[in-house]
Amino acid sequence: MKKIAVDEMMNFCKRKGFVYPSGEIYGGIAGFWDFGPLGSEIKKNIKDLWWQYHVHQREDVIGIDGSIITHPSVWKASGHIGNFIDIAVICKKCKTSYKIDKHEIGKIKCEKCGGEIESKGEFNPMFTTFVGPIKDDSFMVYLRPETAQLIFTDFKLVYDNARLKLPFGIAQIGKSFRNEIAPRNFLFRSREFEQMEIEYFINPDKKKECPFLNKKIEETEVSIYSEKMQEKNQASEKMTIKEALRKKIILLPWHAYWLAVELKWFFNIGANPENFRIRQHTKNEKSHYATDTWDIEYSFPFGWKEIEGIADRGTFDLTQHEKYSKKDLKIMDEKSGKKILPMVVAEPSLGVERAFLVFLFDSYSKGKKENIILKLNSQIAPVKTAVFPLVKKDNKLVKIARKIYEELRKEFYTIYDDSGSIGRRYARNDEIGTPFCVTVDGESLEKNDITIRNRNDAEQKRVKISELRNVLIDLINGKKNFEDL
Ligand code: GAP
Repeated sequence: MKKIAVDEMMNFCKRKGFVYPSGEIYGGIAGFWDFGPLGSEIKKNIKDLWWQYHVHQREDVIGIDGSIITHPSVWKASGHIGNFIDIAVICKKCKTSYKIDKHEIGKIKCEKCGGEIESKGEFNPMFTTFVGPIKDDSFMVYLRPETAQLIFTDFKLVYDNARLKLPFGIAQIGKSFRNEIAPRNFLFRSREFEQMEIEYFINPDKKKECPFLNKKIEETEVSIYSEKMQEKNQASEKMTIKEALRKKIILLPWHAYWLAVELKWFFNIGANPENFRIRQHTKNEKSHYATDTWDIEYSFPFGWKEIEGIADRGTFDLTQHEKYSKKDLKIMDEKSGKKILPMVVAEPSLGVERAFLVFLFDSYSKGKKENIILKLNSQIAPVKTAVFPLVKKDNKLVKIARKIYEELRKEFYTIYDDSGSIGRRYARNDEIGTPFCVTVDGESLEKNDITIRNRNDAEQKRVKISELRNVLIDLINGKKNFEDL
């Protein structure tokens, strides 16, 4: 199905209470967004599912929650003050402004009108503010442009506290800020956004062996667009991760592993694999810290774009922080019996807002009467169940429906809806992605059962009230299919 345009998605999100321009009553402010009642539920579900999969379900990953404003030396050491540079350009003809990479200077034309572009100079996208109320004593600080650095500065403390053994990862979810020259495409390029990141540490001598690669992981299939394919202007090729390793397209087993793990996270919770590809960074576009980087890209209505980067940061960050802090950040590798400075073999780094867009674009569909059905995976859907009495004025039905509603909302987000026709109530819930609607009707009084309606095909089944809670829990968690009820 053809995707709707990004502006149409933006309007839909506003109308349904998913996302609003921040401070809209004052005209909004470019690159800043507020998540409304349903959008904040979706965002929370995405973050919870990410944390469950990457932290709770793994023995080798532990989480932290670092501060947004950080000691300025952190950004000197990390290279962000010196090297985190955007180049601002403006189109001489239509006056649109952009940011470009260094290697694009002199090569690109205006993406809007094809006009000639003019450089407006280099620009560091880090936001600054001041710490301390008294002018003479205050000092300038930065709002973090990535969550990653807190993982490096806390590295030794976390290692000691959590009694970790290599290989291990440290994860974090939190806000990041970049004063983007040209925020655009709705949430895609914002100035305030959230990142979900892992720094995965190994002994640098063990770079070539990944103990976690197994058949299940290797069978993950995706379109692959290597540096060579890009240089030769070839199309991307669909293959399994195993094939990509065999053909030496992906060189490091660790990269293959993390790419597959990240793709599986998306695919397990309803993203469409056809809209994904993995692309290797070319020499020119690698970050100052990275030796090899692969992006997971998604086919947005505005083209293939990065949603997640998986960089090999080597020992760059820990070396820099050792140098600037003059602290020893080496740890004991029990397996080799040596004290070493670990390397980051992979840094899966995903933006929450970009994941949010992926799930919305992939689930937005139209029914027979052009009605919108948001076919979100039930774990991501903001509302899990809506409970209706068929007739609002029938006190007996209302009493049962209210009782069911009170019970279900103890388990998951449930709403009660008695306004308008039953058809209108179903349609309203289809639009916001509610996977299951529960209707109490005349038969419920005699048989102690209700109907569950499945959002995706409007099928209905009768279920005993006494079994409803467990049935819904299994349906929502994907342990049971609606057809099998
Ligand atoms: N620590 C590595 C890092 O920050 P990045 O490629 O600059 O790498 C990682 O960012 C991810 O953060 C991106 O893939 C994207 O999902 C998200 N991200 C980056 N800049 C963003 C922006 N201006 N708006 C929304 N998301 C952004």
